[in-house]
Amino acid sequence: MRLFIDTGSVAEVEEISAWGVLSGATTNPTLLAREHADPGRTICRICDLVDGPVSAEVVATDAAGMIAQGLALSSLHEHVVVKVPFSPAGLEATSALAEQEIPVNMTLVFTASQALLAAEAGATFVSCFLGRLEDVSIDSGETLQGIIETLHTGQTTAEVLAASIRTPQHAVLAARLGAEIATVPGRVLHQMLAHPLTAAGIERFGADWASRPELGEWMTKLVDGEVVR
Ligand code: G3P
Repeated sequence: MRLFIDTGSVAEVEEISAWGVLSGATTNPTLLAREHADPGRTICRICDLVDGPVSAEVVATDAAGMIAQGLALSSLHEHVVVKVPFSPAGLEATSALAEQEIPVNMTLVFTASQALLAAEAGATFVSCFLGRLEDVSIDSGETLQGIIETLHTGQTTAEVLAASIRTPQHAVLAARLGAEIATVPGRVLHQMLAHPLTAAGIERFGADWASRPELGEWMTKLVDGEVVR
């Protein structure tokens, strides 16, 4: 499963892209509104940092407006994927953009039937929201499994993008169920990284190594090319 970062923060992408784990990114109007920055500069900078698909969302609610905004967003950078909210107008816009070979991420998908329609409209990615399902007491794992089975048994090439990831467990669940992508907020990526036993183990290795100063001297010489093999 590929990992995207779900953010509107360039600083967050600058930090986490250095880990070498990101294949793309997703933004949305809420995430961009949270940052007091030019949205175009933010989107383009994120495109350069992750060197992969970056979703930028239309805000129009009519098909013509979505298509116009999608074409404009797509022109910002070669990595931009146009994000279109699921609706009848969204399906019409997705179909029109896909016919022009512009990649679309259909978002705010919550059922297998919606995912099927999004895929048939020509969406490249179908964003299925886990956290928001759980906010209304719907089992996100069951829903995501149904969406994956529905899209993977058909002829569609649309990829399932697990979104609204609130915990490391959501990301692991998406991978175990076979989603192609999970888009993960920076906060959750940090949570995926952290474990007290890892931190304790690193500290223990350092202390034991330091207890033998000659070992440290050896490593320094090795790095400096002064160790005779
Ligand atoms: O960006 C789309 C999705 O990941 C947003 O998730 O946390 O606002 O439900 P959330």
